[in-house]
Amino acid sequence: MKDLSSDIVYLNGEYLPLLRAKVSVLDRGFLFGDGVYEVIPSYSGNLFRIQDHLLRLQTSLERIRLELFYSLEEWLEILVPLLDKEKDQSIYLQITRGVAPKRDHAFPKKTHPTIFASCSDIQPVSDLELGVKAVTMEDNRWEMCNVKATTLLANVLMKQEAIEQGASEAILYKQGYVTEGATSNLFAIIDNFLITPIKSTNILPGITRQVVLELAKQNDIPVKEEAISLESLRSADEIWITSSTREIVPIVKLDSKKIGDGKPGIIWHNMNQLFQNYKRAS
Ligand code: PDD
Repeated sequence: MKDLSSDIVYLNGEYLPLLRAKVSVLDRGFLFGDGVYEVIPSYSGNLFRIQDHLLRLQTSLERIRLELFYSLEEWLEILVPLLDKEKDQSIYLQITRGVAPKRDHAFPKKTHPTIFASCSDIQPVSDLELGVKAVTMEDNRWEMCNVKATTLLANVLMKQEAIEQGASEAILYKQGYVTEGATSNLFAIIDNFLITPIKSTNILPGITRQVVLELAKQNDIPVKEEAISLESLRSADEIWITSSTREIVPIVKLDSKKIGDGKPGIIWHNMNQLFQNYKRAS
């Protein structure tokens, strides 16, 4: 397979320098955010849980009624040339409904999806060993949060608000129950159980979330998928957020309240070690 450097991207069948990759202003991704995406980590050239990411991509495509199907082999043929085997990276893969002849909310009769993929180095989370701060916010997103849609304006605004409050993440809640982070899933240790909210249309079914659940079960860490009230989250012993780019990050302050003793908890240390071992072995 071709060996391409990291500033080369894939766009509609071509590999080209990032600065030469151009999309029409009539692309429905640009006009309506009419598209879906994936972020897939790659550790030393191995795409992590690629089948799970592609399955979620296919589900997202089906939910927005965008007809496209590539096999695992076809996706690998597109993505692998973007990777550097020496590095830990993440692939960004975006598919939109493509270019339409004019701006119209309804689908055009015929479209060719726009497929874009790029690769960047994974940046280690600063202050991981110290933990980070998060702030809570009312979840004002739509009822299709299980679709990994490029339409991310609500997430963008909530994340920005969190950053401006000196926090790393916004923890969202709906009707008194936490859903997830603006860019991550959520776990908490409450009454000696590791708990994460149940899969629903209110959360993205995260791949890191899935791996954490599996590792907990395999290692006898009591775990359950259950609704978490905002009130019980506030008195949790540990809170973590999970995502493909940041892995498992401990939250040590929620709004103005210290979580646990204000340091990453023992179960986080344990799980983070299990996760690091697992990702290197995969
Ligand atoms: N986001 N929930 C939301 C809203 C997210 O945006 C993400 C990840 C997750 C975690 O999913 P996973 O473990 O599969 O990465 C949950 C990615 C990283 C992003 O948008 O860049």
